[in-house]
Amino acid sequence: MKGYCKSISLVLILFMFVTSIVACRNKDAVPKTTGIQTHTPGSAAAGSKAEKNGVSGYQNVNVPVEDRVKVLLESMTIDEKVGQMAQAERGTASPNDVKKYFLGSVFSGGGSHPGKNKVEDWIKMCTGYQEAAKSTRLGIPIIYGIDSVHGHNTVNGAVIFPHNIGLGAAGDPELMKRIANVTASEMIATGVNWNFAPCIAVGRDERWGRTYESFSENPDLVSKLSVPYIKELQDKFGIIATAKHYAADGGTVWKSSSSGYPIDQGDAKITEEELMEIHIAGYKKAIEAGVKSVMVSFSSWNGVKNHGNKYLIEDVLKGKLAFKGIVVSDYEAIHQLNEKDFYHQVVASVNAGIDMFMEPNHWKKTIEALKKAVDKGDVKVERINDAVSRILRVKFEMGLFENPLGKKELAASALGLDENCEVARKAVRESLVLLKNKNNILPLKKGAKIYITGPAMDDIGVQCGGWTASWQGGTDKGGQKWTRGTTILDGFKKVARDNGGTIITDKKDAKDADVAVAVLGEKPYAEYEGDDGSLGLFDGTALDGNMKALEAVKESGLPVVVILVSGRPRIVTNEIEKWDAFIEAWLPGSEGDAVAEVLYGDYDFTGKLPVTWPVNVMQIPVSIDEMDGKKPLFEYGFGLSIAK
Ligand code: BGC
Repeated sequence: MKGYCKSISLVLILFMFVTSIVACRNKDAVPKTTGIQTHTPGSAAAGSKAEKNGVSGYQNVNVPVEDRVKVLLESMTIDEKVGQMAQAERGTASPNDVKKYFLGSVFSGGGSHPGKNKVEDWIKMCTGYQEAAKSTRLGIPIIYGIDSVHGHNTVNGAVIFPHNIGLGAAGDPELMKRIANVTASEMIATGVNWNFAPCIAVGRDERWGRTYESFSENPDLVSKLSVPYIKELQDKFGIIATAKHYAADGGTVWKSSSSGYPIDQGDAKITEEELMEIHIAGYKKAIEAGVKSVMVSFSSWNGVKNHGNKYLIEDVLKGKLAFKGIVVSDYEAIHQLNEKDFYHQVVASVNAGIDMFMEPNHWKKTIEALKKAVDKGDVKVERINDAVSRILRVKFEMGLFENPLGKKELAASALGLDENCEVARKAVRESLVLLKNKNNILPLKKGAKIYITGPAMDDIGVQCGGWTASWQGGTDKGGQKWTRGTTILDGFKKVARDNGGTIITDKKDAKDADVAVAVLGEKPYAEYEGDDGSLGLFDGTALDGNMKALEAVKESGLPVVVILVSGRPRIVTNEIEKWDAFIEAWLPGSEGDAVAEVLYGDYDFTGKLPVTWPVNVMQIPVSIDEMDGKKPLFEYGFGLSIAK
């Protein structure tokens, strides 16, 4: 009975809407507001809550979302539909393009920003796009996507959190909620409403350049951390979250990539059981948590590129896992499908289940291809309708029709507020993993004389790693910080200054010190640029100064504490014997000074390894359920504390 009444009112809404559109078309006029009025005496809606607002149809928040979707979809032309399925990069699409092509989304590729990259520049840009979208016949808002993967990391002045692997070490769901809170509030401050995060990859090979994007090799830990993040982002802030990269991006095999990279975008050669239990389990949890978008991985499963895998997307993700949101392709990933031309790549991927195409440079060609495919019958209208319904559903559910620039009252008043940096400091403290502490050399005495050296001791760019200000990230140069924040050295200096200690950075004075600290690191990198077959301390993506730093601390003859700033375990088997203490600091982000607070004992070490630490490269893959009698250097979950 309930369903029957619903369909009657739906038919009525639809009828009235279509008549109003036809009327407008006949007059060749574009209506200013696109809401339809059902305040007709005697209509089914008379006296309803909807009516009191004076608006109804798809613009009315009181109409159930599924009805709004149907009403709007039914009234859309094919141009309006395929436009929704295209996602253009900000550098290639103007507000006028949004209007002319009915674009569904615009995004920032890594580091892509408007003007001087200030909050005002972002607001101006997003307002321009949203106003253009609103001025179209149906006034459908765009979604603006960005990779705010460790804070709102593209924008000047944002708080930069540790990368996911460090948060995996922290293992704190409540902290994840607070991080989501800060990230979302900074995103809203800039008018951006779609985050290409969290990455829920289950990384199984440390040689992979994206290892730091993965919280852990353990799917349970990945879900424990990603679910609260997704919920906070979406439920509280109306920011669309993305579970990525579907599926088994972390399960690819070394030297299996057809894209020319050693492992990134490679092939996961695994059984369906492994695929489901290790790599897809997190999607199930993310979907249960209501995640609104899923990004498909560049990689393949047993030789089939995921972007063309109908079984994985349509049958498993949308069927078995009942995902109702948007499936978005990764950056030009459909170009890798083994089809004779772009047209056929579009056809293959839309038929496999892609709903929105991240096509920074070829979005116009995508739109043309989709239209042609429908005309020729290569893609069924039903598939287009499904894709567009999903996009509209998310836009309605997240309140974008009402608030295209986000809920202003939840925006951070400025980026990098002290209280928000405090959340990042907590994350840094919790992420540190103490792997060795011979003779209880730690905690350091606050009044001690410390000789500190190493290429990662005073470099915010190195601490932050990739996806910071730019896609690949970068290092501090000539006194110029890569982004705002404090370094590990700043933290040491502060504690010493406040407690009568001494920090020595000049090697010739090292002999006066009580302890030597070497801060080693990795060069910033992202994705395939970080693929590294050696994982040594002195080669691959390791920083050039690592060897010199270790030589300097050795020469000093002092007890040695080593801090490693890296996106993954590196092979330390031959070196660790010479060290008294060893701390893995991961990529802590902009609040590096918090590292010292733990080393000096203001807080204890609580971080635990979220990945197994291999003894050498040959041992990889080695993880909780891939031990095969291997003995790693440190097991998953290992981490010492001072208090015991
Ligand atoms: C990455 C994604 C990212 C996208 C958009 C791709 O290269 O694989 O993780 O979301 O770029 O920046």
